[in-house]
Amino acid sequence: MTAQHNLEQNSKLPLIDLRSDTVTRPTPAMREAMFEAEVGDDVFGEDPTITKLEETAAERTGKDAALFVSSGTMANLVSLLSQTRAGDELLVGDRAHIVRAEAGGVSRLGGVLATTLPNQPDGGLDPELIPAAVRPDDMHQPRTTLLALENTHNFCGGTVVSLERTQEIADAAREHGLRVHLDGARIFNAAAASGHSVAELAGPADSVAFCLSKGLGAPVGSLICGDEAFIAEARRTRKLVGGGMRQAGIIAAAGLVALDQMVDRLHDDHANARQLARGLAELGFNINPESVQTNIVIVQLDTSNDPTPSPKLQAQLKQIGVLVTTPDRAKIRLVTHADLSSEDCAEALRRMAEAEVGPAA
Ligand SMILES: Cc1ncc(COP(=O)(O)O)c(C=O)c1O
Repeated sequence: MTAQHNLEQNSKLPLIDLRSDTVTRPTPAMREAMFEAEVGDDVFGEDPTITKLEETAAERTGKDAALFVSSGTMANLVSLLSQTRAGDELLVGDRAHIVRAEAGGVSRLGGVLATTLPNQPDGGLDPELIPAAVRPDDMHQPRTTLLALENTHNFCGGTVVSLERTQEIADAAREHGLRVHLDGARIFNAAAASGHSVAELAGPADSVAFCLSKGLGAPVGSLICGDEAFIAEARRTRKLVGGGMRQAGIIAAAGLVALDQMVDRLHDDHANARQLARGLAELGFNINPESVQTNIVIVQLDTSNDPTPSPKLQAQLKQIGVLVTTPDRAKIRLVTHADLSSEDCAEALRRMAEAEVGPAA
């Protein structure tokens, strides 16, 4: 039986969706909390469920205050715009979600120049590059005012930037008068993997953003956390970009359940990602399972015969009901999440073996 025949035969199999941890559906407890949520007009500051979520988020991140926004992209945008002026410069990793996957919002909407520094394999930046990257006070140049980090680091493969590294980078930035923003879309994964609390990991940053709608499984929402003055400014910026929401306690209620019930299980996602990586290595893919730290597996494909192999592999996987994304044309990304079990991961690997989908497929 040929591999192609197998692919066609299996095409009606139930989907195993490894595209992202954003695909999770709200749990029954979330739906119930949403149904019961007490709400009010949050633009008037009158939604008790949002207020509770913001207070909880501030507490969990160890910051003074928090602001609920609709998405991780909006959380970053509002955070960056609230700490810069048009014409300022942001220092950010070259593989950061902010520069690679947020439609250039900080430049288009904020008029901010984003200058990239090379991301290190752990997703961090080399603190020694920061002094030279900060512009001198010179009328020809933009003002370098902000540095952004990401933890875990999505496009580096869900890597954890250690607390020590985060502190070193933040210290170097602060020494030159920069503020520090942390894109912590998956900071709860970083905490689970590192053994540090979210508050510890966020400690070196002035502002931190995290998502409820990724590993934590809520349907919508992100939080921005920082000191009172920053959050007041962020509230204004959120209004500016049209992000003020009214009876949004309906969605915040699910976020409270996420923070209460979905954090401790993140270890399962991490174990499942390791399991996937081990299976992929057994199938001949170039992946070191030990390099997988959280819930994201990125596989670098062989480009010796085809410089852009990922779309073809993605299509082959889709035919056996396994959905993945392609961070670039020579990589595939698999993400584990609350709606996938260890058995689902085993089944994905079993289908790949049976259909002979491998690195040279
Ligand atoms: C690291 C990181 N930051 C921000 C975002 C943006 O989140 P959203 O898709 O909710 O806008 C993502 C989304 O995957 C992400 O991975």
